[in-house]
Amino acid sequence: QKPLETRRASMREDASKEESSLATACLDKTDGLVWEEEEGRATLSLTFTLRSVRTAGFSKIAKVFETFEAGIHHLETRQAKKSKNADDDLDIFVKCEVHNSDVSVLINSLKKVAEDVKTNREERVPWFPKKIRDLDKCHQLITKYEPDLDHDHPGYTDPEYRKRRAFFAGLAFNYKDQAEEMLSWREVYRKLSSLYPTHACKQYLDAFQQLEKYCGYQENSIPQLQDVSRFLKERTGFQLRPAAGLLLPRDFLASLALRVFPSTQYIRHSSSPMHSPEPDCCHELLGHVPMLADKEFAQFSQDIGLASLGSSDVEIEKLATLYWFTVEFGLCKQNGSIKAYGAGLLSSYGELVYALSNKPEHRPFDPELMAVHPYQDQTFQSVYFIAENFEDAKAKLQKYALKIKKPFSLHYDPFTCSIEVLNTPQKIKSTLSQMKEELKNLCFALEKIS
Ligand SMILES: [Fe+2]
Repeated sequence: QKPLETRRASMREDASKEESSLATACLDKTDGLVWEEEEGRATLSLTFTLRSVRTAGFSKIAKVFETFEAGIHHLETRQAKKSKNADDDLDIFVKCEVHNSDVSVLINSLKKVAEDVKTNREERVPWFPKKIRDLDKCHQLITKYEPDLDHDHPGYTDPEYRKRRAFFAGLAFNYKDQAEEMLSWREVYRKLSSLYPTHACKQYLDAFQQLEKYCGYQENSIPQLQDVSRFLKERTGFQLRPAAGLLLPRDFLASLALRVFPSTQYIRHSSSPMHSPEPDCCHELLGHVPMLADKEFAQFSQDIGLASLGSSDVEIEKLATLYWFTVEFGLCKQNGSIKAYGAGLLSSYGELVYALSNKPEHRPFDPELMAVHPYQDQTFQSVYFIAENFEDAKAKLQKYALKIKKPFSLHYDPFTCSIEVLNTPQKIKSTLSQMKEELKNLCFALEKIS
């Protein structure tokens, strides 16, 4: 018996000699063979037909899996469909975990001892982050907005602005209270905060008051992102993370799943304080932050993020549109009137007034319709969707998310701030026992106060 290392090496050598198209395809992750990767390991679902099982056929297969130290999650056999010898031929399904670099060689080796080797393409799932540090891989920008290229932008003729913006779009996490930035901030803050009492929802107003009291929200200084992030973490567990611009929807939504909000840091040009062609810190600090301090809304935001993990590109597009009509441009009913909770509205004087006027169309909150409704990113929306309340919006979103096809369920662990894939009975059991403990504690609490 050759040691495993030698056997693996010779199998790899054999595989490299063969210019098998399958081997090449297997190395390409987009082929769908690898559906989930964790710590350099890939999980594969394989089906193949094994002839002459009784005469040592099975041990050949076992040797291949043993050689690559594949962890078998599931193995199922049945009589081969296309059988030459009914009693001795089997169709086999194996779900296993191997090291990424061994995927193609393992499949190639299987092909030598089995027939009709196939992978289950239904279980193709794009990679997604499971821990906050995985977000380092989720920072792809849609387009980097360059005022230099936009002749209509006031920054086009202002080299100082371009220099400052480039600096903040880098890695800096703090503002310097420079005169130009203060001009924009002061004017935006003054104008918008005069509208909030009549136009913003109750949750926003409550949080805004807290931010003024504890977090340096005032017209004469721009709050520091670090302080704001700390404030949010204490309220809802959300934290801000610097972003150099608008992220790809998949990357942006994945951050929300981990209660991380990617935030830009530069500020709009002082000559057009009421308009910014891209998200800036006025939009993040005045639009998003107050709402993220509300527990129910924070959960709603995370739920959109969780629904996006491992979803197809088509589903991501729909979820991003749903995000647009809720987190960015959402309205809700409150005490018989309509109020704004969307950050795109709460950071834009003109659109906030317009959205609550009788000019645009107002429709009821319906995720199925909102997810496919055309949206405007150059001008005001023609339609706004009105939620009955956040609880109702959350329930409808959860119902929508359940219809997205995925081969597993996910669980967010608040202790480790990470995502767990519930794909084995053991994982489900351990999550359940955590919940049992919490339930027990709640029962005691109820007993004490009754
Ligand atoms: Fe935004």
